[in-house]
Order: sequence, then structure tokens, then C-alpha cells
Amino acid sequence: MPSAFDVLASDHEQVKRLLAQFEAGPAATTGASELQLTARKKMAETLVIEESKHEAVEEMYFWPAVRKLLPDGDRLADQAIGQEQEGKEVLARLDKLGADDPEFETLLSQFIKAGREHIAFEETQVWPALRAVMTEAESAELGDSLEQAKRTAPTRPHPHAPPSPGVLKTAGPAAAAADRARDAATGRGRA
Ligand SMILES: [Fe+2]
Ligand SMILES: [Fe+2]
Repeated sequence: MPSAFDVLASDHEQVKRLLAQFEAGPAATTGASELQLTARKKMAETLVIEESKHEAVEEMYFWPAVRKLLPDGDRLADQAIGQEQEGKEVLARLDKLGADDPEFETLLSQFIKAGREHIAFEETQVWPALRAVMTEAESAELGDSLEQAKRTAPTRPHPHAPPSPGVLKTAGPAAAAADRARDAATGRGRA
């Protein structure tokens, strides 16, 4: 069974790859063709969907574990959730724009920087401390919860919903079902 860190690391790797691809371009400002802009928008959809699921399951299961198991867990979780909220606001705006919109690249650059900082914060400030206090069985159990929750997690950022595990677990599934119905109707996130 994959550990919590395996599950989260594989998400982070996917996001890092997408961010590097965005930087490689081309963008509207650097001569992208119509076709390339359509592909860039699709890639942004994938980023928003994957990020939304990832941060939602962290907020449901990962940060509660950090709060419970680490002496300064509240501080770490609060700081990270603050970063996640800011990221959601940027992604919610990005999700509404086409890749030919002048604001698209501004928001994307903002997210590339903030997203990398957030990932680095988790990987260097939080993971080593949590790894040190968790047994393998606990980490595997947490990994399982994260994987299960990802299957039904929201695919949109919902920056105005409170990022509390209780709210996400009770109101989250309805929001997630609505997100997925809209995705199916519009073809969002489909290659
Ligand atoms: Fe996060
Ligand atoms: Fe993360």
C-alpha cells in the first residue's frame, strides 16, 4: 500500500511537470498557434482539476494528521492552508479564461511561483517532521484515505468554501458531484 507521502509526492510530481510545460510554452505572447492555445487551455484545466482534488484531500485528511501529531502542527497547517486558499483564488480565475486572454499568462505565472513555493513548504517543512513521528502503518492508512478521497473530491477550487475538514467531508461530496456533472457536460478535463 502506498504511504501518504507516496500519494502526495506523485501528485506533486505531476503538478511540477505541468508547471515546467507551461514555462516551456509557447504562450499567446510568444507566438502560439490556435491549436497550441487550445492545448494550453486543456493543460490549465488539468492543472486546476488535479490541484483542486489534491488540496481538498489534504485539507480533509493530511492537515488534521499534522495538527494531531506535530507539536507545531497548527502553525504548519494554518500557514499551508493559507497558501492553498491563495492558490485556489488564482486557479478559480484562471479556470474562467481562455489561453488567448491577456490575464491568463499573468495568473499562470502567479500560480507557477506560488505553487512551487507551496510544494516546497510541504516537502521540506512538513513532510520530514511528520515522517519522523508516523509509523509505516499510520502512513499507509493515511495514504489510503487520501487515495479514496481523491476519487470523489471536487474538481474545481471553491475558494469561498471554508477549508475545514468537517465542511469538506459533509458539503464536499455534493460540490464534487456538481463539479463532475458540469465537467461531463462540457468536456472539461477531457483530452
Ligand atoms: Fe497543499
Ligand atoms: Fe501538496
